[in-house]
Amino acid sequence: MGKLTIIILLMLPTILFVTPLISADFPLAKPNCTDKCGNISIPYPFGTTQDCNYQHPNFWVTCRNQTSSSDPPKLFMQNTSIEITNISLDGQLTLLQYISRDCYFQNGTRNTSNSPFIELPLYMTVNNTANKFTILGCDAYGFITGRRHKRLYATGCTAMCYAQDDLEPGSCTGVGCCQTSIPKDVWEVNLTMRSYNNNRNVWDFNNCNYAFLVAESAFAFSPDNFTNLRNVEKLPMVADWAVGNKTCEEASADFSSYACKGPNSTCYEPANGYSYRCRCKDGYQGNPYLDEGCQDIDECKDSKLNNCTENEYCTNTVGGFRCTCHKGYKKQGRGPGGCVRGESLAYRLAAGLALGVIVVLLVICLIYLELKRRSSNKDKKRNFLQNGGTLLQQKLKQIERNTARLIYSLTELRKATNNFHDSMIIGQGGFGTVYKGIIENKIVAIKQSKEVSSNQVDQFVNEIVVLSQINHKNVVKLIGCCLEGQVPLLVYEFISNGTLYEHLHCKQPKTTNVDFLNWDRRLNIAVETAGVLSYLHSDAFTTIIHRDVKSSNILLDNNFTAKVSDFGASKLVHLDQTHLTISVQGTFGYLDPEYMETGQLTEKSDVYSFGAVLVELLTGMRVVSRNRPEEEKNFIVFFLSKLRGKRLFDVLDDGIVSEENKEQLTQVANLAQVCLNRKGKDRPTMKEVAMELGGLKRDRKHPENEHNYKSQEMDLYCLDDGLDSNYYGNSTSTGYDTSRGHIVLPMNDAR
Ligand SMILES: *[C@@H]1O[C@H](CO)[C@@H](O)[C@H](O)[C@H]1NC(C)=O
Ligand SMILES: *[C@@H]1O[C@H](CO)[C@@H](O)[C@H](O)[C@H]1NC(C)=O
Ligand SMILES: *[C@@H]1O[C@H](CO)[C@@H](O)[C@H](O)[C@H]1NC(C)=O
Ligand SMILES: *[C@@H]1O[C@H](CO)[C@@H](O)[C@H](O)[C@H]1NC(C)=O
Ligand SMILES: *[C@@H]1O[C@H](CO)[C@@H](O)[C@H](O)[C@H]1NC(C)=O
Ligand SMILES: *[C@@H]1O[C@H](CO)[C@@H](O)[C@H](O)[C@H]1NC(C)=O
Ligand SMILES: *[C@@H]1O[C@H](CO)[C@@H](O)[C@H](O)[C@H]1NC(C)=O
Ligand SMILES: *[C@@H]1O[C@H](CO)[C@@H](O)[C@H](O)[C@H]1NC(C)=O
Ligand SMILES: *[C@@H]1O[C@H](CO)[C@@H](O)[C@H](O)[C@H]1NC(C)=O
Ligand SMILES: *[C@@H]1O[C@H](CO)[C@@H](O)[C@H](O)[C@H]1NC(C)=O
Ligand SMILES: *[C@@H]1O[C@H](CO)[C@@H](O)[C@H](O)[C@H]1NC(C)=O
Ligand SMILES: *[C@@H]1O[C@H](CO)[C@@H](O)[C@H](O)[C@H]1NC(C)=O
Repeated sequence: MGKLTIIILLMLPTILFVTPLISADFPLAKPNCTDKCGNISIPYPFGTTQDCNYQHPNFWVTCRNQTSSSDPPKLFMQNTSIEITNISLDGQLTLLQYISRDCYFQNGTRNTSNSPFIELPLYMTVNNTANKFTILGCDAYGFITGRRHKRLYATGCTAMCYAQDDLEPGSCTGVGCCQTSIPKDVWEVNLTMRSYNNNRNVWDFNNCNYAFLVAESAFAFSPDNFTNLRNVEKLPMVADWAVGNKTCEEASADFSSYACKGPNSTCYEPANGYSYRCRCKDGYQGNPYLDEGCQDIDECKDSKLNNCTENEYCTNTVGGFRCTCHKGYKKQGRGPGGCVRGESLAYRLAAGLALGVIVVLLVICLIYLELKRRSSNKDKKRNFLQNGGTLLQQKLKQIERNTARLIYSLTELRKATNNFHDSMIIGQGGFGTVYKGIIENKIVAIKQSKEVSSNQVDQFVNEIVVLSQINHKNVVKLIGCCLEGQVPLLVYEFISNGTLYEHLHCKQPKTTNVDFLNWDRRLNIAVETAGVLSYLHSDAFTTIIHRDVKSSNILLDNNFTAKVSDFGASKLVHLDQTHLTISVQGTFGYLDPEYMETGQLTEKSDVYSFGAVLVELLTGMRVVSRNRPEEEKNFIVFFLSKLRGKRLFDVLDDGIVSEENKEQLTQVANLAQVCLNRKGKDRPTMKEVAMELGGLKRDRKHPENEHNYKSQEMDLYCLDDGLDSNYYGNSTSTGYDTSRGHIVLPMNDAR
């Protein structure tokens, strides 16, 4: 059962596909009319009833059952005995025509059966090219007489032979067989046949003579036919049919009787010129005598109908088809011809021309590139100078440093960053863009600043000079710089784990259950940062004031080791200078209020900023935020008021408070408080701060279990809350910008 279903299902497409191809797919007869008699088609204008034919006896045919029910029914012209075996819409009919025979016997008897006189209906004629009047016999002659159009006609031939070996199969040239053409327009046929000698001399091998009008294609002479034609009654003959007695012009004038129906049929006149026929226009098939009988041929279904080559697609159109070349092939010329792989003359010309154009363009391109390279070299030099290259070289010479390794070419950095591709960006902000790059198999961070105005070039050179002097494990190493580009580029060691700011303020809510920044780590970051600042302030041979200490300038590596960055604002202070007066610069919230008021820069400004970072570490809160209640907006002030009110533990970060570190947290909070003293001279030095913090760290006997989470596991994301988390600093932004929390106040006595 199941198998059968499967087989049927498998065959279904075949059946569906094959069936319409087998049956004629256009109607032949009028609706509700028989279009078949046995296996013979009856196309309109022929029909078996008055409603179904052209309402003219010419086209009336009758289908008669045979006495033996096993024989198929036969089709006859009108009510006559003229049998029709084929009706073609091209205007032909195949009729069966009786054979005339004349037999002589040795005992003197003669047996003759004459073909009945044939009269074709009006507008039907015997096809004069397809039929031949034929006589078989070795002592015979005969005539064909009758009427053509309005005149009589008569023609005939003689067939003789003297011995059986005279006979030649296939040859009907008067020896045993003769044939003659008939005139055109014949509609009446009367066959007559005689013998000269009653076959007396030949009757041992030929005692019967035959005469018939036959379709040439249906008869080929053989000596056997002298005997075997005795049993044959009829032979096929081709007649022509046409419609009406008018010419096309006359017929089409009378629309109601015009036989060619629909827009896609057309009229033509057969050779006799007394009537007309219809046919479908090119590209259509069907019955032109029916309304909507002519239907479009899908030429593409049959390769015989379309001449598209194997390199072409065939597209059927109404009344035709189109051949279009396969991809990669070109039409050969304009006219006929298949598609070739670009080998037509026109294509070659076009290709040659195109090649020429390409070569010319290439040459122009090369020249342009060469010129560009030269001018670009000039540009690079100019940029280098504009970006403070000479200043840098001077400064570096001053500090007796070798510049060789420090300065990279733009080409090198382009290669390192995949031509500054977007996918290499690891940070972006007001300061510019930070790219990740690979130089000499080392991952580096390349800071490309926003367009720098000439007075800020100093700041860049400053950072280069300052950083090039510092060699501290907790300071982001400057590897080099590039001054050839439009804007200067700084190359740093790559720090993988983001900024302290991000870790404190940009944690995904979901990941907070594991606190990566436990108290030990925070304390460690504080110790390391304090160490850096202490080193900058006193250990280096000239004092360096960072001027922009903040959590977003403290980078963290995979082990949460602090790396202080962004020395764009830093100042070198010579030992003899106790303080200097310069424009106020720093980040709102971290900025020393005393310095802001007086413009007097001392290293105590860094102490204040560090105090703010300590508060951030203790509370996990941003130092300034617009999204908090009014009194908490400046969190430093709020923190100090809580501390004074002995309510420190209200503001501490819940995640870091535990029984055993309560005392230590209080100590750090107190240290932050002194750092945040309004007066600089009341603040401790960084060295003191570093030592105290170092002591606290050593006191931690049971450090909390050391997670060694890598940065990849952290999913940091920052809702911008007034302060941006700049990677590698933002020292190049200018002006007062509350949204960025960065402030630069010009001073009267600046420089
Ligand atoms: C064909 O015959 C059917 C039923 O015999 C009839 O409903 C229909 O109208 C006929 N169509 C025409 C064109 O005569
Ligand atoms: C009709 O069938 C006969 C035999 O059954 C065959 O000789 C003849 O060619 C067929 N005619 C057509 C038009 O199929
Ligand atoms: C011819 O025979 C078919 C069945 O073979 C029958 O339906 C039809 O009525 C018959 N026609 C005549 C005119 O006898
Ligand atoms: C054929 O029909 C015509 C009229 O259409 C009639 O005059 C003639 O006698 C009929 N012939 C035969 C053989 O029935
Ligand atoms: C009938 O005539 C058409 C057109 O001349 C021809 O294609 C077809 O083969 C003929 N059928 C028979 C059975 O001779
Ligand atoms: C003559 O011979 C033929 C066949 O050989 C035969 O049919 C016929 O009856 C004969 N006639 C006479 C008058 O004997
Ligand atoms: C046929 O032609 C013969 C002479 O060739 C003549 O005797 C005979 O009457 C004609 N038959 C008809 C029906 O015209
Ligand atoms: C003529 O004889 C040949 C050979 O026997 C035969 O094939 C052919 O059908 C015969 N022609 C007719 C019209 O009977
Ligand atoms: C065409 O035939 C009609 C009858 O079918 C006849 O009245 C008319 O005279 C004929 N015209 C010509 C030009 O033979
Ligand atoms: C005679 O028949 C042939 C095909 O057998 C056809 O091409 C030709 O046009 C016909 N002659 C007339 C006058 O229709
Ligand atoms: C006849 O041809 C026209 C276009 O020439 C076409 O739109 C229309 O569908 C065709 N009619 C039929 C019945 O195929
Ligand atoms: C293909 O046939 C169309 C018309 O049927 C003709 O115009 C064209 O030249 C033919 N192309 C070729 C390549 O035979």
